[in-house]
Amino acid sequence: MTEQDQLLHEHSRADLDYIQDQILKWFSGDGRDLPWRHTRDPYRILVSEVMLQQTQVDRVLPKYHVFLKQFPTLEALAAASTAEVIRAWAGLGYNRRAVNMQRTVRVVRDEFGGKFPKDVTTLRSLPGIGPYTAGAIACFAFEQDVAFIDTNIRRVTQRLFIGPVESEVSERQLLQVAERAIPPNQGWSWNQAIMELGALVCTANNPACWRCSVQQFCRDYEARKQDDERIFDAKDVSSDIQKSHRVAERRQKYKRRVEQPFEGSSRFYRGRVIDVLRQLSHDDHMTFEHLGAQIKEPFNDDDMPWLTKLVEGLTRDGLIMVEGDVVRLPH
Ligand code: ADE
Repeated sequence: MTEQDQLLHEHSRADLDYIQDQILKWFSGDGRDLPWRHTRDPYRILVSEVMLQQTQVDRVLPKYHVFLKQFPTLEALAAASTAEVIRAWAGLGYNRRAVNMQRTVRVVRDEFGGKFPKDVTTLRSLPGIGPYTAGAIACFAFEQDVAFIDTNIRRVTQRLFIGPVESEVSERQLLQVAERAIPPNQGWSWNQAIMELGALVCTANNPACWRCSVQQFCRDYEARKQDDERIFDAKDVSSDIQKSHRVAERRQKYKRRVEQPFEGSSRFYRGRVIDVLRQLSHDDHMTFEHLGAQIKEPFNDDDMPWLTKLVEGLTRDGLIMVEGDVVRLPH
């Protein structure tokens, strides 16, 4: 028995066939109609995946369309000035993603004749492309049966095939399990479906097991069964409303918890610097003193070493440029 078989020993081939069938059926009926599911253009897939890495689908949707209107092709993005790309990224946060993505497409243009490589290993060699993005491009653009792990895939794979999320499992084992679970020649639909299940049903908090067609095969369901049955029995319109209120309350609490330390953090000030420089007209720049006064109130001489360090970090990441005593977005 291989290590994979041991990890999956409770799911026979027949059970796995059933699980695959059910999840694919659910996805084709209940999956959202998202624009990046209508394309196989690796450039568009790259843009969507990079945007979705740290940003919610609802926030990505409008940005995705506007960004692709401005940079409809890999060549357009590669040829743009980095300042333009950073400006177009406004509202998405983690600006480094935009700069790295432009680096990626420049390498594809210059070293691969403008054609994305298809295999995961070569995709991984591109700057700014990690194992997740390489797998997502190979699968969602080139329809290859490859496994890759993001937070939703991790959670669903873990619960369904291994056990409660707390149980110990290495990244390598998780990948093996995810790989074995892919129905042959259906990697595209399967990976989209697993992500979708994680986003809509098998959520981190309060998963809606009662809506899941493979709950009886889930290796985390036993632990959740009581809670889930209670929700299911009490389920009517009013309990749905109460539940959504509770969810909203919890979100608020969570938001307050994560937002407080963010203000005043290095990431907060990095974002402020970029926001201020974005507002300058094309090719304009700003002195250190002026920039400092715009991002921190009050800003005095003692703050200059702190600002210098902040600027150094942003320069290293290719997000800004220093010319003498002025700062600007890169050409
Ligand atoms: N998050 C990352 N990739 C996604 C995709 N293809 N669909 C929905 N959410 C995603």
